[in-house]
Amino acid sequence: MQHPFIIAIDGPAAAGKGTLARRLAAHFDFAYLDTGGLYRAVALSLLLDGKDPDDGDAAMAAAADLDTRLLDAPRLRDEATGAAASKVAAIPQVRSNLLEFQRNFASHPPGGKQGAVLDGRDIGTKICPEAPLKLYVTASAEERARRRTAELRDRGLRPDYADILSDVKARDARDMGRNDAPLRPADDAHLLDTTDLDIDAVFFRAVELVKEKLPPQ
Ligand code: DC
Repeated sequence: MQHPFIIAIDGPAAAGKGTLARRLAAHFDFAYLDTGGLYRAVALSLLLDGKDPDDGDAAMAAAADLDTRLLDAPRLRDEATGAAASKVAAIPQVRSNLLEFQRNFASHPPGGKQGAVLDGRDIGTKICPEAPLKLYVTASAEERARRRTAELRDRGLRPDYADILSDVKARDARDMGRNDAPLRPADDAHLLDTTDLDIDAVFFRAVELVKEKLPPQ
């Protein structure tokens, strides 16, 4: 079999990466890995054990022996889990413990698929630097906070926009400011700013970019 075709999608929290990645994977029948879920699972295992997400030893142990059942836990998507994930993600040993799982997924997509879409923060820069297509999906912090607020409202919660905006900014600062594999666009990434674009427009643009790079059948 040819090398799987890898689409690397990076960008800050709540920019629309996940929606785009899932849609591209369905469209091209590729496997999809939400790598943020791995960091969230590590964080959630600490929270469930009553441990501090800044506890480096506990975080390393959880990453070394990842409980993949947590990837389906309802609390995985909570704001608190996301914030804790951004903390454990700054620990180099946690990142190295999760690296092999991600590379293995990309080189052997489950289900014998011909390609894989991975989304995260360091896919184009660190996990799959050889990916033929890299997308960096972003939007202003205000727009991302607005979308996150609407999403939480749709889930029946009563979020406060100002709190969400400050969480989004704190998460950006942590994800972009850490020493190990900080969030940044790869030099060869295509930037997709979704502040003023709806999800369909972003999707159609991304499909064009994939088609330009896909090897002829
Ligand atoms: O994409 P997300 O919100 O599910 O990610 C949660 C946190 O995990 C994010 O704030 C930073 C971290 N993360 C990372 O450091 N590297 C990745 N490839 C994916 C996520």
